[in-house]
Amino acid sequence: MSRGTVRSAYGARAKEYTELFGTIDNTHPADQALIAAWAHGLDGKVIDAGCGPGQWTNFLHALGVDAEGVDIVPEFIESARQHYPNTAFRVGSLEQLQVPDQSLAGILAWYSLIHTSPDDIPTVLAEFARCLAPGGSLLMGFFEGETVEKFPHAVMPAYFWPVAEMGKCLDRAGFLVTSSNFRKDPDARPHASIIATPHPVPHWFPEHTVVRRD
Ligand SMILES: C[S@@+](CC[C@H](N)C(=O)[O-])C[C@H]1O[C@@H](n2cnc3c(N)ncnc32)[C@H](O)[C@@H]1O
Repeated sequence: MSRGTVRSAYGARAKEYTELFGTIDNTHPADQALIAAWAHGLDGKVIDAGCGPGQWTNFLHALGVDAEGVDIVPEFIESARQHYPNTAFRVGSLEQLQVPDQSLAGILAWYSLIHTSPDDIPTVLAEFARCLAPGGSLLMGFFEGETVEKFPHAVMPAYFWPVAEMGKCLDRAGFLVTSSNFRKDPDARPHASIIATPHPVPHWFPEHTVVRRD
């Protein structure tokens, strides 16, 4: 799905989406606990990539995290700034986060890659890997499924991902998966989350170029 398609599809429904999902009270307590515990271990700037209405960015900010929400939809950024005036937000894309290399302690990508076509996932993960500092952490939330499968989400088509398949994409992008979670609530699509960290020495790094200090 192109960025233009995401911008226009969510732009047209940003008000409705914000009313339905734009406050932390409308999020799952288990997700709040997970995101708070994840953020607790981070030291430095965190980007909420694909922040939508900004409820998670503000949640992180309230925990004392140096958080900034980034989204491609100007309507979301405008309303996030109104609802959460003390929290930082800007228009931007997952593909180009516009921060220096290795400058972030964390990236939260909460349901923001669900519309990204499987062919484009490596581009986004490569950008996340570029931005994260050594020891930094990525937390992703997404719809879980037995196969990578497109489905008609309310705003625009989205994808189910098996945790193992997303893990392979992360591995290929130079991440080490450190934990994952799965939940199936009644009347809700299956949910999964993955925490991953940039691999200290990516497995694809040619062994003969590893600098040895001994
Ligand atoms: C399902 S919403 C999730 C929003 C928010 N993270 C939440 O949990 O409510 C997906 C969000 O990802 C954003 N998004 C999708 N593709 C993007 C891209 N390529 N660059 C920036 N934002 C993107 C959309 O604009 C939308 O706000």
